[in-house]
Amino acid sequence: MFSSITVGGRSGAQALVVGQFKGQKLDKGTLKLDPDGSVLAASRRTEATGEAGSVVEVFPGEGFERVLILGLGGKDSFDVGSLRRGGGVLGRALASAKITSVEIALDGALGSIKRAVDEERAGQALGEGLGLIGWVCDEFRGSGTNGKKRGKLSVRASDRDFSAGLKRGLALAEGANLARTLSQTPPNIATTMYMAKACQKLARQFDTLSCTVIKGERLVKERLEGLINVGKASESPPCLIRLEYTPRSVAKGAKPAVFVGKTITYDSGGLSIKVGGGMRGMKRDKDGGCAVIGAMHSIASVVKPRRKVVALLMCAENAISDEAYRPDDVLTFRNGVTVEVTNTDAEGRLVLADGLCWACDKEKPGFIVDIATLTGGVVVALGSTYAGMWCDDDGLRAQVQGASDRSGERVRRLPHHQEYRDLMKSPVADIVNSAPVRAAHPIQGAAFLSHFVKEGIPWAHIDIAGTHAVDKDSGEYIAGPTGFGARLLAELVAG
Ligand code: BES
Ligand code: MN
Ligand code: ZN
Repeated sequence: MFSSITVGGRSGAQALVVGQFKGQKLDKGTLKLDPDGSVLAASRRTEATGEAGSVVEVFPGEGFERVLILGLGGKDSFDVGSLRRGGGVLGRALASAKITSVEIALDGALGSIKRAVDEERAGQALGEGLGLIGWVCDEFRGSGTNGKKRGKLSVRASDRDFSAGLKRGLALAEGANLARTLSQTPPNIATTMYMAKACQKLARQFDTLSCTVIKGERLVKERLEGLINVGKASESPPCLIRLEYTPRSVAKGAKPAVFVGKTITYDSGGLSIKVGGGMRGMKRDKDGGCAVIGAMHSIASVVKPRRKVVALLMCAENAISDEAYRPDDVLTFRNGVTVEVTNTDAEGRLVLADGLCWACDKEKPGFIVDIATLTGGVVVALGSTYAGMWCDDDGLRAQVQGASDRSGERVRRLPHHQEYRDLMKSPVADIVNSAPVRAAHPIQGAAFLSHFVKEGIPWAHIDIAGTHAVDKDSGEYIAGPTGFGARLLAELVAG
C-alpha cells in the first residue's frame, strides 16, 4: 500500500485526521482546527456515525486539502487498541486518495474522555495499524495483487507522546512485516539455507545481533534428533539457526529470554502424506520461526531490552523420499526421552523438542516461549481470533497476557494435565508423537512438548495454526500472513 512510512517532517500536510466518538458531537479541541466550519457540518451528516472503522471525508475551503473524520466507536468503552484497526482503515483511505502527507490530531477527541488516555499507546496502536496495512510483498507480486503503484507516506502528530508512539508502532509493524514477507516466500525459494541466510542478513544489520547456524555433523554431535529425522528426506538440509540479541548493558539479575520457533519450510506430512487440500498453504508452516525473526528485528531496532534474548529456529523441510523417517521409528532425544513416531505429519513437536532441550541445557533461560503452527485442532477450537496458549507458570503467564493486551495479538489459555500426558503413552517408547485418538488434539501437542522442558523453568507454548494467516482482508490485515507473534514476543521482553 505504501512503499515507506515516516514520522515527523515539516508542517503543511495535505490531509488532517480528527476523531469522532459514536453518537457524539465534535469536541472543542477539534473544532479549533476547523476554521470555516466545514468539518463541523460534515460531522453532522448522517453517515458521520462515529462508528469504529468509519471514515468521513471533508473538503474544506481553507487549510487542509482534505480532512478525514475517523470514527472511534463508543466513548465509554473506548480502548486504545481499537486504533490499530483505525490505522488500517485510515491507511486504506489515504492510499486510495493518493495522499502522501498527513497530520494526525486525535488529541482533541482523546482528551475529551474523562479517564486519562495514554497518548503514546494510542500512537503506537495507530502506527501498528498503518504499518501493517502498508505491507505488500513486493518480492512476489502477482496478477491478483491489489494496488499497482505505491507511494510514500509521511505522518506527523502534534502531540509528542503520540508521535513517539507512532514511531514505535511503525517499527513493531516492520518486524511483523518481515515475518509476513518470509511467510509469503514460496518453499522452493525459502529453503532451510535461505532462512539461515535471512537470519545472517538480519544479524549484519544490527550490532547487537549475532547468528550461528548448526547443521550437518554438528546436529549429530548435539543430538538434535528431531531436526535430523524430520529433515532427512529433503534436499535442503535441516539446521538450527541461533540468533542472539546482546544488550549493551544487562540489567542486574536479568536472565536470558529464549524463543523457540517451528520453522518447517514445507510440511508435506512426510510418509503420512497430507491428502486432499491439506497440503496447500504449508509453506506457512515456518510461521512460528518467522514470527521469532520479526520479533528479533523489533527487539534490536526499538525495544532494546536490557536482557539477553536468544532465538532458536528449528528449521527443516518435512519431505518424502526413500530416506524419510517413518511411522514406527523410535527416536532418542537429547534428554534421553524416547519417542515412537506414529505419524510423520506430527513433525513440529519433534523439532521443537530439540529446541526445548537445547534451551534448557545451554541457554540458562529465565523463561522459554515456543511458538508454532502446530495443530489443525487449534484452528477448529479457536479459529483465527485467539492463539492457543499453555503456561502453568503464573508469573510468565501474566507477562504473556500483558504482552497480548499491548499488542492486540490475542492468546487464550488451554490446560495441561497428567491425563493428557497419559494419552501419549507408547508400548515401545516413553511417548508417541501422536496419540491414536483425536481427543484434545491441540493439547496432545502441548503434553508432548512438556516432556522436554526441565522442571522449574517457566515455559509457555503458543499454537498459532489458526492466527498466522487470514483468508480475507480484515482490519489491519490483507488476505495472507499476519506475522502473528512478532509483536507479542517483542512486547513480552519490553515489559
Ligand atoms: N503444520 C501442521 C498443522 C497446521 C494445520 C498448521 C493447519 C496450519 C494449518 C502440523 O504439522 C500437522 O500436520 N498437524 C497434524 C497433526 C496430526 C497428524 C497429529 C494435525 O493437526 O492434523
Ligand atoms: Mn505436519
Ligand atoms: Zn507442520
